[in-house]
Amino acid sequence: MSDLQNISVSWDGDLAIVTVDRQEKMNALNAEVFAELAIAFDSLRHDDKLRGVIVTGAGNKAFVAGADIGELAKMDALSGVETSRTGQQVFRTIERFPKPVLAAVGGYSLGGGCELALACHIRIASENARFGLPEVGLGIIPGYGATVRLARVVGLGRAVEMALTGEMIDAEAALAMGLVTHVVPRDELMDRAKGILGKVTKNGPLAVQMVLESIYRGMDTSLEEATVFESKLFGLLASTEDVKEGMTAFLEKRKPDFKGR
Ligand code: COA
Repeated sequence: MSDLQNISVSWDGDLAIVTVDRQEKMNALNAEVFAELAIAFDSLRHDDKLRGVIVTGAGNKAFVAGADIGELAKMDALSGVETSRTGQQVFRTIERFPKPVLAAVGGYSLGGGCELALACHIRIASENARFGLPEVGLGIIPGYGATVRLARVVGLGRAVEMALTGEMIDAEAALAMGLVTHVVPRDELMDRAKGILGKVTKNGPLAVQMVLESIYRGMDTSLEEATVFESKLFGLLASTEDVKEGMTAFLEKRKPDFKGR
């Protein structure tokens, strides 16, 4: 991953920190950022030591201030579809990533930035964060999944109002509607992100993966099918060493030592 120019990937123990870094453009998403996110997540997927990912933006002003409007201004009908599909596929890769992905939003999270955060499994924000879908003010619609995901996260009424008005909301409003689960001072954002993922990564890694699989697959299907699928995953885990370790550790009053097997 040494060729990355617009994002960086660093490590903190078993957590990877993916930072969108185009500070001069408020970390706006252009085609190169999408290509590099795809490379980064593909590489991370094959890294056995990885336990979780934090996605963030460089600097204190923006998480990501949307798709790169300079690039969007050049699109025609066909390239518009292609642009939207490419972004959607990258964000779908993030959403279906087998390990927890947390968005640490430390500033503007607008348009595609809000959509990137929505594709992550957990979202937290700094006090100066602002969220919004300003696309309608540019004469376009959100094209990287927000018209679908936002309503699933905050409910139909709030999602429709945000997408139709294009107005920004502050971090406290985002917290109140469930768009984020924690709001902290800017200088505590990354520590809180690591702390939350630390609470996840102490658990059985296969169980964590199966929770994500069951919840996200379940969103796309009927209650009946989703609960049948949940039972299969529940049963599948019973055959793992981790289940024996987790239960034995409880009975022996010690911390489990999960191996991910
Ligand atoms: N695409 C391309 N460039 C962007 C951008 C975007 N989405 N968002 C910000 N930038 C650029 C600005 O054009 C400016 O570049 P310049 O210095 O070459 O002129 C630079 O980032 C700094 O932005 P600026 O607007 O000067 O900062 P600000 O603090 O006054 O305002 C925002 C910050 C985020 C409120 C404002 O930049 C904004 O509204 N951005 C667009 C948000 C948007 O509509 N996103 C959805 C796109 S579909």
